[in-house]
Amino acid sequence: MRVAAAASASLFALAALASPHVSHCDVSKLSLPLPNGTTALTPPAQAGTKLKYVAVGLGVQNYTCGASGTYAYAGAVANLYDISCLGRSPLFPYIQEIAYALAEAGPKADNVLDKVLGGARLKLGEHYFVTSPSGSGISPKFDFTKAMHSSSAYVLAAKAGNMAAPTGPADVDWLQLNDVQGELAKSVYRVQTRGGQPAATCATGQFSSVPYAAQYWFYV
Ligand SMILES: *[C@@H]1O[C@H](CO)[C@@H](O)[C@H](O)[C@H]1NC(C)=O
Ligand SMILES: *[C@@H]1O[C@H](CO)[C@@H](O)[C@H](O)[C@H]1NC(C)=O
Repeated sequence: MRVAAAASASLFALAALASPHVSHCDVSKLSLPLPNGTTALTPPAQAGTKLKYVAVGLGVQNYTCGASGTYAYAGAVANLYDISCLGRSPLFPYIQEIAYALAEAGPKADNVLDKVLGGARLKLGEHYFVTSPSGSGISPKFDFTKAMHSSSAYVLAAKAGNMAAPTGPADVDWLQLNDVQGELAKSVYRVQTRGGQPAATCATGQFSSVPYAAQYWFYV
């Protein structure tokens, strides 16, 4: 699935499957792909929340190199594309692989993904970091305000749980992020991650932006 040519062909197939009413697809039958016995993240059924959107995120995880010669987290920036309508596709569990193959292909890949997935029609919003409400540190934000034409269609979240990616150490952690501000969702889970991990060692002061893709599941 990591071969770019195959990925592009698959994306055309995906785009054909997506209906124009992308944000209104029924996602009630989809279940978050947590490994059996997961306790590090609270499963949505246990949290009493309901799935509203599934997105694939494509972007970068940023790191700055500290005095100890190891990378410290410095936020991320990603575009979020609606895959809620692709839930029944056999490719659904692999969409992040396709996105990641494009990311590896270079910085223009985001535009390619945008085009093959149908551009603005499928773009739900952006994921980025802002100063935490406490005034120190950074917090993840998921911003759908443009697509939804609503100033409250965002989630500013705090990490409620994390676990190592079941796929191995090259992939960023799976996360549960709970809402702190905004009306978009009560919790957001980052799962099916690909890439995004920094090098093990670095030169102090160095900055690193590592391509990644992941699925983000939004629960209300
Ligand atoms: C996880 O649990 C489900 C239902 O209890 C079961 O059908 C499935 O085989 C289990 N998967 C693994 C990998 O153990
Ligand atoms: C992350 O790095 C990218 C460049 O690769 C930059 O555009 C973006 O603003 C950075 N975001 C943060 C939160 O540092």
